[in-house]
Amino acid sequence: MSTPRAYRALQAEINAGIASGAISTPISNAEANELPYLQGVILEGLRLHPPFTGLPFKVVPPEGDVMDGRRVPGGTLVAPNFAATGRHREVFGEDADVFRPERWIEAEPGRRMEMRRVAEMVFGYGRWGCAGKMIAFLELNKVFVEVSLSFVLVSFSGPLSLRLSEVRR
Ligand code: HEM
Repeated sequence: MSTPRAYRALQAEINAGIASGAISTPISNAEANELPYLQGVILEGLRLHPPFTGLPFKVVPPEGDVMDGRRVPGGTLVAPNFAATGRHREVFGEDADVFRPERWIEAEPGRRMEMRRVAEMVFGYGRWGCAGKMIAFLELNKVFVEVSLSFVLVSFSGPLSLRLSEVRR
């Protein structure tokens, strides 16, 4: 909503998908996975605005551990900072602070996989990782397309030069 260029590009992909029959009503999860711009929007949203903003602390076992080459004593609380991992310049590029879904389309497959692994950190990993991750992706895959059928979304938090006639089918 606060990146009108991306909003228009997403709406164009949705409109084209409906016109060609690639999108059913309601859209299926498999169909959504085939929409590259939608996937970029979802992953940019997750990495720049992690829905879970707390620190999911874990306790280092009594014998201690080695993390990133550093010895960490037993009993230490450690947690990932999702706000930082999602904006890692080495992973997402120098423009990591910018909402730019195209980065997911441009990236080579190996790089895209690495970006995805880091973006998905917002769900945690391993034993304590989010048990609802697949349901969350299923919901994200559907919500933007379905909402776009009935509504034009407008952001009140920033400048918006979106002309309704441009996004309405
Ligand atoms: C975008 C949406 C979501 C995000 C970002 C998210 C994120 C997280 C995070 C960060 C954790 C803790 C991981 C840790 O402690 O290391 C977690 C745990 C969990 N989440 Fe989610 N979650 C989402 C949606 C959902 C949904 C839709 C469900 C259920 C349908 C769900 C069910 C759970 C459960 C059951 C746990 C606890 C897993 C365990 O302790 O074994 N989550 N989630």
